[in-house]
Amino acid sequence: MFHSRARGSASKGSAVYPGSFDPITNGHLDIIRRARELFGSVTIAVSNNSVKNPSFSLNERQSLIIRSLRERRLTQGVRVEVFDGLLTDYMRRRGASVVIRGLRFISDFESELQMALMNRRLNPAMDTVYLMPDEKHIYLSSSLVKEIARLGKNPKAFAPACVAKALMTL
Ligand code: PNS
Repeated sequence: MFHSRARGSASKGSAVYPGSFDPITNGHLDIIRRARELFGSVTIAVSNNSVKNPSFSLNERQSLIIRSLRERRLTQGVRVEVFDGLLTDYMRRRGASVVIRGLRFISDFESELQMALMNRRLNPAMDTVYLMPDEKHIYLSSSLVKEIARLGKNPKAFAPACVAKALMTL
């Protein structure tokens, strides 16, 4: 039997939003806002080993996320953590069962489906919830924002000011 749940209490425990966040963009912040609205709180989990050559160190990525949350007044109910190793093990350690991921295009779906099913195989208590960002962020990605900055244009329309500044001084 299904029970309807009040807004902000859709899951057991806090939802976890994992990613590389190299760096965080306006698209990620949109997903964080939506996840917090749905689940009441959200933990951003920065992976230490998802990208081979990150532009920012783990500490820098974490610090940019914290500064971005402050800049956008989004700190309440939002925690930032880092994790090493498998996401499934981290979820188990935290006693968390809901993973949040953003979904932009059909092309995202293929790899996301594979990841969600593998994660569920490794940790059957886990489920992945996909949230669509506002359409104005649909085309955003950390790598495009980085390329824009690398080629000389300030990417402040696509990321918080602290991130845009960090990108322009890379
Ligand atoms: O922002 P990204 O790079 O799309 O995030 C990918 C991330 C960090 C969620 C994924 O690579 C991950 O969970 N990495 C941790 C290691 C792991 O559990 N790998 C197996 C995934 S099925």
